[in-house]
Amino acid sequence: MRSRGHVAKYTFDDILGKSAKIKSAIEKARRFGSVDATVLIYGETGVGKEIFAHAIHNVSPRKDGPFIAVNCAAVPENLLESELFGYAEGAFTGAKKGGKKGVFEMANGGTIFLDEISEMSDKLQTRLLRVLQEYEIMPLGDARLISVDVRVIAATNSDLRGMVEKKLFRSDLYYRINVLTLVVPALRERREDIPILVDHFLQVSNKKFQKNIKGIEPRGIDLFYAHEWPGNTRELQNIMERLVILTDGDYISADLVAESLYISQIKPHPTSSPQLQFKTKPQKPQTKASFDKKAILNALAATDGHKKKAARILGISRTTLWRRMKKYNI
Ligand SMILES: Nc1ncnc2c1ncn2[C@@H]1O[C@H](COP(=O)(O)OP(=O)(O)OP(=O)(O)O)[C@@H](O)[C@H]1O
Ligand SMILES: [Mg+2]
Repeated sequence: MRSRGHVAKYTFDDILGKSAKIKSAIEKARRFGSVDATVLIYGETGVGKEIFAHAIHNVSPRKDGPFIAVNCAAVPENLLESELFGYAEGAFTGAKKGGKKGVFEMANGGTIFLDEISEMSDKLQTRLLRVLQEYEIMPLGDARLISVDVRVIAATNSDLRGMVEKKLFRSDLYYRINVLTLVVPALRERREDIPILVDHFLQVSNKKFQKNIKGIEPRGIDLFYAHEWPGNTRELQNIMERLVILTDGDYISADLVAESLYISQIKPHPTSSPQLQFKTKPQKPQTKASFDKKAILNALAATDGHKKKAARILGISRTTLWRRMKKYNI
């Protein structure tokens, strides 16, 4: 779905971290809560842009109004247009009976989170700019102008200013949305936050998979510190989940951490930020062959026997999983 519910789930209490960088981002974002202006959130993938958008809404005077998130990259242009601005009955062939309310109308009194705004087409950028200037929308095929009272929070992991210079993004819209700017720092720039996040996602994953793992071997934590985290907090979250699934004892072993970080590193990431070579412990691809029957059983149990998901957790292809399941008589 493009719009993911109408309430903001997260508050500033959910944004963990003790680094000066995350604290100053939180402090800044808190102040943005009380100013009713457009916010542009910059940050690499998985860094927490959406959680910040929720939190800003939840401290703003609009907190009792709706919060609607729309991912501009996930839908084709014409669908995004009707999603945002709506349409009247009979606006086009296939239009729903009774028409469709756009997100701008549904979010009245609240906040719209426009994720991946850089992906918006030129035509939609023009429409959005007009809405942000007039605070009025005209649904497709509708003669009415509807006044809307919404606050927009936009997010991007692209260099929007660079895109403006290259004429890939409208400069007038850029200046219109870039009133308040928030940069969420990459995890590699605030490694002090790693232990807190590790603890948090350990607890979450323990609960999710009914385990009681107490921690990670110290050498494993060192590996976490050395990692570049191109996928930021989301990458850490996924790795913790995987480690919890694959661990049976009280502590996650450093070897398993090494293996997981290695697998995470060779996976393509949405942003191609430069990736550090594994300094601490060079791993060969063969490491993956060391997955034993137990790991496979654990992964299958954790995914309710879903082979595609289990293979992803194990970092192996579905064919390899299939072959090993045959080998181990699973
Ligand atoms: N500081 C944090 N404390 C706790 N959880 C966090 C923190 N930052 C991010 N997360 C969690 O990490 C995951 C990714 O965060 P989020 O979806 O907000 O990232 P994003 O920047 O919007 O990513 P993308 O660019 O890929 O959309 C979420 O599950 C979020 O709850
Ligand atoms: Mg996001």
